[in-house]
Amino acid sequence: MKLPDLQKAKIRNQSEVKYCEADILRDRSLFQGKKYFLKTYGCQMNVHDSELIKNLIEGIGFIETDSLKDADLVILNTCAIRENAHDKVFGFLGRCKHEKASRKDMIISICGCMAQEPSVCEEILRKHKYVDLVFGTHNIHDLPNMLKNKMSETSIEVESIEGNVYENLEYKRDSKIEAWINIMYGCDKFCTYCIVPYTRGKQRSRRSENILKEIEKLKYEGYKEVTLLGQNVNAYGKDIEDELSFPELLARVSDTGIDRIRFVTSHPWDFTDELIDVIASRKNIMPYIHLPLQSGSSRILKLMGRRYTKEEYLELYEKIKKRIPDAAITTDIIVGFPGETAEDFEETLDVVRKCKYDNAFTFIFSKRVGTPAEKLEDPITKEEKEERLKKLNVLVNDYSLEANRKYLGKTVDVLITGPSEKGENIVCGYTETMKLVNITGGSDLIGTIAKVKIKEAKSFSLDGVIEK
Ligand code: SAH
Ligand code: SF4
Ligand code: F3S
Repeated sequence: MKLPDLQKAKIRNQSEVKYCEADILRDRSLFQGKKYFLKTYGCQMNVHDSELIKNLIEGIGFIETDSLKDADLVILNTCAIRENAHDKVFGFLGRCKHEKASRKDMIISICGCMAQEPSVCEEILRKHKYVDLVFGTHNIHDLPNMLKNKMSETSIEVESIEGNVYENLEYKRDSKIEAWINIMYGCDKFCTYCIVPYTRGKQRSRRSENILKEIEKLKYEGYKEVTLLGQNVNAYGKDIEDELSFPELLARVSDTGIDRIRFVTSHPWDFTDELIDVIASRKNIMPYIHLPLQSGSSRILKLMGRRYTKEEYLELYEKIKKRIPDAAITTDIIVGFPGETAEDFEETLDVVRKCKYDNAFTFIFSKRVGTPAEKLEDPITKEEKEERLKKLNVLVNDYSLEANRKYLGKTVDVLITGPSEKGENIVCGYTETMKLVNITGGSDLIGTIAKVKIKEAKSFSLDGVIEK
């Protein structure tokens, strides 16, 4: 049994990355006809990892079920970004335990970012012995072997020191229209509040030739859109000698001719003029930029280790808007970072008023074990933080509605991705700027890029009709 070690994270940066083909066990007879239930928490990285997990376990015979009661194998792919993520997983584990009480041969397994936290592994070993397998974010490809060799007691199969970038991985993708593509793993930024560099490891970019090959294949299979994934996509390539930069990679992806290209997440610190140019000049690179602010106060930004000031952020924002006027810009904001004063919070509101974001994901600071911010004094009360979040959300929602209203009466291109939750004979899709649009129409529209006239604008979606 190996327990991961959070404190080794920075030392790891010296370890060498090996680029290799994953050795994957595929033998359907192993678990022929057995059923698995997979629940995914967290960000797109986890959603995409779950697509890999599905491919791997279906390769050894499992078939998917959406009912916990039918499952022979349960996998919880977890997120560690905030404390409530932890509570949700352990809450659900209670249900799994109950289920397992009457079916002893059920396999319960936990993976994802929480699995990389030593305190979580210890808690499982101490209090949740009915969990059979814990595996980390660096050895997912080995899951078929782990299941084949499963012991009778809890096994912890978590690599604390990662160092490999595996190719030849295959995914059971949720969509036949849009696809996620990892272009890099991990993150080297070490923002002081964030657990990701510890759970996902140091930055490891994939080789551009492998990324481009994967995109060519997806295009050939009929995919219309690819989203390049990474915690810090615009730092792509900086960790490998002689590799393309992110703007160069984007240009090459654009050259494949795939209809739509997106990328998440960009860090303002790595956002170059060259990147703005390539987005502005290529029609198939979508004018949608997620540009996390985190705080509008330069003092707090420094404490967060974000490497930019309020003024530098605003300057970048202006530059992007000037070059790509129609771009939608969204953001992430944390309120109540330790020591955030009422004045600091005012600075955040000031940036929101200036940037009038299309959308913003807002969070209350959550203390993560092992991060530098865990040690900071935090005199602000929970009530005060909740008050600030409420105030911020009111402002953010006003601007979302204002941004959406600009679409009223306009005709825009929408990639129609599936049936809408709004009812029968309604489909939905996304504008180039990532606005969700509900459209009256049948399933024959799914997978097409249609001209849609916008008739109604709400805070979180638009309604439209197909332009004949
Ligand atoms: N790599 C991305 C963010 C990934 S995490 C970036 O740098 O922008 C997604 C968001 O979760 C972050 O942008 C941040 O706003 C929020 N977040 C991360 N750690 C947090 C914490 N400890 N407490 C509250 N929010 C946090
Ligand atoms: Fe976390 Fe900062 Fe890396 Fe984003 S850039 S994943 S917030 S450490
Ligand atoms: Fe959560 Fe891990 Fe993503 S902590 S936000 S699932 S990288």
